Amino acid sequence: MLHACNRRMNPFKPTAGGEPPLLIGRERVIRDFDKGLDNGVGAPGRIMLITGARGTGKTVMLTVLGDKARAHKWDVIEETASDGLCERLVNELRSKEGLIDKLTIAPSISFAGTGVSLGEAELSPKRMPETLRKAMSARLDVLEKHDAGLMISIDETQAASRADLIAIATAIQHQIRERRNVAIVFAGLPQMISDLFDDEVITFLRRARTNVLADVPISDVKKAFAQTFEDSGMSIDNELLDKAAVSTAGYPYMIQLVGYYIWDAADSRDSTMICEEDVSEGIREAHVDLDNAVCIPELHGLSKNDRAYLEAMAVSDGPSETSEIAKRMGRSAKYAATYRKRLLDAYVIQQTDRGEVDFAVPFLREYLRRRL
Ligand SMILES: Nc1ncnc2c1ncn2[C@@H]1O[C@H](COP(=O)(O)OP(=O)(O)OP(=O)(O)O)[C@@H](O)[C@H]1O
Ligand SMILES: [Mg+2]
Repeated sequence: MLHACNRRMNPFKPTAGGEPPLLIGRERVIRDFDKGLDNGVGAPGRIMLITGARGTGKTVMLTVLGDKARAHKWDVIEETASDGLCERLVNELRSKEGLIDKLTIAPSISFAGTGVSLGEAELSPKRMPETLRKAMSARLDVLEKHDAGLMISIDETQAASRADLIAIATAIQHQIRERRNVAIVFAGLPQMISDLFDDEVITFLRRARTNVLADVPISDVKKAFAQTFEDSGMSIDNELLDKAAVSTAGYPYMIQLVGYYIWDAADSRDSTMICEEDVSEGIREAHVDLDNAVCIPELHGLSKNDRAYLEAMAVSDGPSETSEIAKRMGRSAKYAATYRKRLLDAYVIQQTDRGEVDFAVPFLREYLRRRL
């Protein structure tokens, strides 16, 4: 029993949305947002888009930015896109003390013969933009009396319906025009950007700050490992630190997995000195989790031909040209383009700056190569 109480806690957080012991390489995004809060209405950091592949830290970033807003005494509403997003936003905006709209919560007031309550009508898709805008204004009226503002964050934006996005964008745009104290951050997979930007109705989002969360530099991973191990009472030598850091490829989810399993390996030997075997075993275990949590789900539901396209991509060590992939598949460029589009839409691959394609998640290439 005593032994259990004395046990140290593993500081790494290899779970979706789990706040890591050290948030590596994201200072600029946080500073941008924080400055936006300081600099008052109209500051650019107040409308932000955060994109990145699975496991790059979008959800964690929303949590951290929400904490920044709370530190400024702002109200924070955190939502994840799925059916009924705007309805939930309206309810959250109104549930705050003193703002409950009596008409909306009284289901007995119905339109004659329709059986539809006034509340339901207000929440109908057609009325939603207006309802959301009013709910936001009412909340801001109260907050601004206390010099506070309102931050809204939307996670998994790529899953939002167009109608919900339009309602949110118009409501926010209205508040900004009225010079209200409001901030909004959308996080989602990279495809969300083109969806949002291509939409003529949501053009004002084009002026938002866009932050792409990429992999972080290995040297920063190494420093963060050194500090996290040290802070939790583990010692590790420089060469092993290098090996551990390199194995993550700077991919945030992998950083937590590798750290976690190395720490765990030493801890299960009841040692505070990390040895070479701990590092090898930690990396091995991290790969098993990564395969299960990222690689297998990414490939799940793909057809044989989708997979053939990916396998043709995996031949290169980096991005591939579309024409080259078609050649490797022994197919026409048109045939390959169909699968390219399917895989882009499924967020399994992404376009690089030069118009080539690459895996959206690192390690997928390695996973496919191992299976071939
Ligand atoms: N900057 C960072 N430094 C170190 N670890 C990080 C960083 N950002 C995120 N992580 C870790 O990466 C993992 C994934 O983070 P998170 O769930 O926020 O990613 P995500 O982009 O939201 O993924 P998904 O697209 O699957 O929702 C978590 O274990 C988290 O602790
Ligand atoms: Mg997430």
